[in-house]
Amino acid sequence: MMKPLIQVRHLKKYFSYKGKVLRAVDDVSFEIFPQETLGLVGESGCGKTALARALMRLYEPTRGDIRFDGKSILDLKRKKIKTLRHDMQYIFQDPYASLNPRMTAGEIIAEPLNIHRILDPSQREERVHELLKLVGLRPEYYGRFPHEFSGGQCQRIGIARALALNPRFIVCDEPIAALDVSIQAQIVNLLKKLQEDMGLTYLFISHDLAMVKYISTRVAVMYLGHLVELAPSIDLYTNPLHPYTQGLLSAIPIPDPSIEKKRTRILLKGEVPSPINPPKGCVFCTRCPKAMPLCHQKRPQWQEISPGHKVACHLYTMEKK
Ligand SMILES: Nc1ncnc2c1ncn2[C@@H]1O[C@H](COP(=O)(O)OP(=O)(O)OP(=O)(O)O)[C@@H](O)[C@H]1O
Ligand SMILES: [Mg+2]
Repeated sequence: MMKPLIQVRHLKKYFSYKGKVLRAVDDVSFEIFPQETLGLVGESGCGKTALARALMRLYEPTRGDIRFDGKSILDLKRKKIKTLRHDMQYIFQDPYASLNPRMTAGEIIAEPLNIHRILDPSQREERVHELLKLVGLRPEYYGRFPHEFSGGQCQRIGIARALALNPRFIVCDEPIAALDVSIQAQIVNLLKKLQEDMGLTYLFISHDLAMVKYISTRVAVMYLGHLVELAPSIDLYTNPLHPYTQGLLSAIPIPDPSIEKKRTRILLKGEVPSPINPPKGCVFCTRCPKAMPLCHQKRPQWQEISPGHKVACHLYTMEKK
């Protein structure tokens, strides 16, 4: 069995909100293996960003353990967190908002090199040119400002900046959501190519289940702070086990009109409950078309049903002997 690059155990990220506890991430465990892309899907507000940020200590985790290459990153003192950025980087959703409008593309990409004092100043410029080329931008873009670029070009600058320190792991948090559909595939293909060339490992967060299927090795499904299912991509899309995953997938239109006509949509009733007051038992019980009395009482365990296919659902709870 391959050793995981990232190992997350019982991770919790709670916020305090108006004097109450908001459980953004509530007891989540999973691994990410070297050079894979783990897709992370789930409705808005389910905790994807909180999970990804806690994973990198951009947010301080409330509880749990996170290991990078076997070493706990929670042991690192605050001052040492900076060193994590050599290994772990983040690409943001909104390419414009994540770039400083007063800095040139070259300065933005060089910033991590300056902060971490990597290379001497004369070599940094050369490195930035190398990075521009890597992400498909022309050398003369070095001196231009963010407003002179399109959304796709801004995202390329964000990717170049994330690559500057030669990280091994990158969180791509909705990296294409703000882009035109025609540009989305280009950015995803660039990420794929960089992964192959540089041996990168990704956590790829997206609402777009078709895109996640295309890019991911395995996919994790999140609901109200919990992981409800995780499986190899093909497994998850052909044999979704959790009623929530089934609901999400039934909402994807199928390009073939004859199959599309026969597609049955599973409508998930009601609203996502608040993470301040999550339901007792299974977090999905209030909206689940298959909920049983047990689901309102007891939280289902996170268990492996077939090799690599995990689910938290009482429908699959094995009889204990
Ligand atoms: N800094 C914060 N302080 C308080 N609550 C927060 C904070 N960040 C996130 N939350 C809350 O945590 C929950 C999870 O938010 P998060 O941003 O992780 O969701 P998400 O799955 O990334 O959603 P989206 O798909 O819209 O990006 C939400 O209820 C949100 O309001
Ligand atoms: Mg988010």
